[in-house]
Amino acid sequence: MIVEVRGLKKVYGSKTGVTAVDGIDLNVADGAIYGLLGPNGAGKTTTISICTTRVLPTAGQVRIAGVDVVAEAPHARQYIGVVPQYNTLDRACTISENIFFHCLFFGFSRPAAKARTAELLEQFHLTERAEAYPAQLSGGLAQRVQIARAISHRPRVLFLDEPSAGLDPQSRIAMWDAVKGLRHQGITVVMTTHYMEEADELCDRVAIIDHGKILVEDTPAALKQSVGAQKVYELHLRDQPGRPELCARLSRIEGVSKAEQTGDGVRVLAHGADGLLSDVVSAASPFGLKDMTITEASLETVFIQLTGRDLRE
Ligand SMILES: Nc1ncnc2c1ncn2[C@@H]1O[C@H](COP(=O)(O)OP(=O)(O)O)[C@@H](O)[C@H]1O
Ligand SMILES: [Mg+2]
Repeated sequence: MIVEVRGLKKVYGSKTGVTAVDGIDLNVADGAIYGLLGPNGAGKTTTISICTTRVLPTAGQVRIAGVDVVAEAPHARQYIGVVPQYNTLDRACTISENIFFHCLFFGFSRPAAKARTAELLEQFHLTERAEAYPAQLSGGLAQRVQIARAISHRPRVLFLDEPSAGLDPQSRIAMWDAVKGLRHQGITVVMTTHYMEEADELCDRVAIIDHGKILVEDTPAALKQSVGAQKVYELHLRDQPGRPELCARLSRIEGVSKAEQTGDGVRVLAHGADGLLSDVVSAASPFGLKDMTITEASLETVFIQLTGRDLRE
């Protein structure tokens, strides 16, 4: 395991005592793309910050390629690349200088740093923008530069904190391609996100975290399978008092695996029986069915089943 996290705990502030990370264990296999999926405040950034030597843990241990990030922080940093949640490019330097100086900082000779910079500019399709300044770049391009810079010293593991926060859909897809490309270079990726599509699309394994704890950990496919349903019907109702009765009726429909109350209606989990739509609508109409959405079961469904909340709340 290239990343090993054991019993990790972080309490911020001695008086107020916010427990941001509450006993996390993780194993990330070499070459994997690994996702930490959870809502805002779940403890994702804190976990990443400890793994990357930015924050000290209150308890527990992290090893990167076998090196303890607290006891041997400078050594561990050689193996680590980081793209933080916010743009940290040096605004006074060009794109090419940002990468070049990073290489020098990590001990490259000037000719080696120059060669490595050229190689990365090429790889990330940035050569034409090499002399541009960070302020002149779109969010998507700046993110690519940050990734290029983060891997310039050839780390074994790249940590990406909310890599697509604030990106438009097209830049997000370009970023996904850049991350997938890292796999071919043997770089392990640990990323955080609160976008379930992103975790689903990119990650080999996902740990769903909430309130500083891992709720479940598995492949996206297995996590979705665990819901025991393929389709999710969200019914919005005018007649709220009727919800328990409606749930009972819906549960009896063939193909429905679960019906539960939500804020303004009922959620139906179904394992994809044909013709279910008309049965659901018929059952719900007498209860003032206002509106309905049908989606495929997703990692969001998994999170809702585990916490009763959705990821954006
Ligand atoms: N420097 C800090 N001082 C005090 N509390 C913090 C600090 N950083 C984060 N927290 C708190 O720790 C919890 C987890 O935060 P964070 O790790 O940023 O979560 P996430 O990245 O999943 O949104 C939140 O309650 C947050 O307010
Ligand atoms: Mg965060």
